Amino acid sequence: MKKLLITVYFLIFILIIVLLGGLWSTYRDAPDQPIAFSHKKHLTYVGLECDHCHQYAEVGLQPGIPAVSVCMDCHEAVATDSPEIIKLTEYWNRKEPVPWAGVYYLPQHVLFTHKRHIKKGIDCAECHGDMKVVEKVRQVRSLRMGWCVTCHRENGASDDCWTCHK
Ligand code: HEC
Ligand code: HEC
Ligand code: HEC
Ligand code: HEC
Ligand code: HEC
Repeated sequence: MKKLLITVYFLIFILIIVLLGGLWSTYRDAPDQPIAFSHKKHLTYVGLECDHCHQYAEVGLQPGIPAVSVCMDCHEAVATDSPEIIKLTEYWNRKEPVPWAGVYYLPQHVLFTHKRHIKKGIDCAECHGDMKVVEKVRQVRSLRMGWCVTCHRENGASDDCWTCHK
């Protein structure tokens, strides 16, 4: 009897590890970025709003990553002796975009539009977390189908397959 209980406990333990492992692996790690850009600094100390840099959230599929020119509006004059800003200026002088590593992206077969969600009044933080505390962007929501569908059902939005798969 005791042996059986121990076996059962052991199996439950293994199951929990496997389940946790599964959850864990759906979150991508924070990738190293070519320039150490801090959301925290720009949102709190500098006091910018998201749409200063991500201009297309309300009008397009994707908010967009800012062009170097947006940064240079300030950094032509601000912190010009910082090694990170020197790197930034080098991209600017070469007329090259900064090759930022993406964190949030879906497979090709899924359709997601920011516009519809933003127009509905859903806050960026609902899906990306509180960016005011973020030094280095990492994934904070699973982006799995279950996550999308759960919120759709809770808010009376469509859970028809063709809503998200074209
Ligand atoms: C000063 C410009 C600036 C502001 C303001 C800003 N961001 Fe960003 N954001 C960036 C840059 C540059 C990147 C790409 C580098 C990185 O990931 O750190 C980025 C990346 C991101 C990403 C990850 C994109 C991906 O490729 O997966 C998210 C999500 C994001 N920002 C959300 C926000 C939100 C929400 C706000 C407002 C609360 C905000 N940002 C304000 C410049 C900005
Ligand atoms: C509205 C003005 C403004 C814009 C736009 C802006 N920044 Fe900044 N940034 C600042 C200020 C102010 C600081 C703080 C400087 C300091 O600490 O002396 C700063 C600090 C930084 C730093 C840290 C510098 C250091 O080593 O201390 C980096 C890196 C940086 N910004 C990158 C960027 C990038 C990349 C963009 C474009 C996506 C950007 N910034 C857009 C104003 C701006
Ligand atoms: C309902 C959830 C949700 C909300 C709300 C949301 N996002 Fe996103 N965001 C996503 C998903 C999902 C992706 C990946 C999209 C893809 O790959 O098609 C993404 C991708 C991004 C990206 C990277 C894609 C790119 O290149 O533009 C940025 C930047 C971003 N979001 C910023 C924002 C900002 C800023 C807001 C608020 C104005 C916001 N998001 C609100 C879910 C959301
Ligand atoms: C935080 C809640 C929430 C999350 C998370 C969310 N959505 Fe939505 N979504 C909504 C709501 C609410 C609407 C309805 C908007 C409206 O009525 O205009 C909507 C609408 C949509 C639409 C437009 C529907 C139509 O009828 O054309 C698409 C496409 C969509 N979502 C895809 C996704 C995908 C894909 C994901 C996951 C990656 C996702 N959503 C995650 C709340 C959410
Ligand atoms: C609200 C958005 C949404 C709806 C509704 C939705 N899906 Fe998905 N689906 C996703 C997202 C996001 C992914 C990619 C992430 C993942 O694999 O979990 C996905 C992935 C999938 C995959 C690929 C799984 C894999 O492992 O690659 C299949 C198959 C699928 N969906 C079928 C369906 C079917 C069938 C329906 C209708 C019953 C449906 N989906 C409804 C958002 C949605």
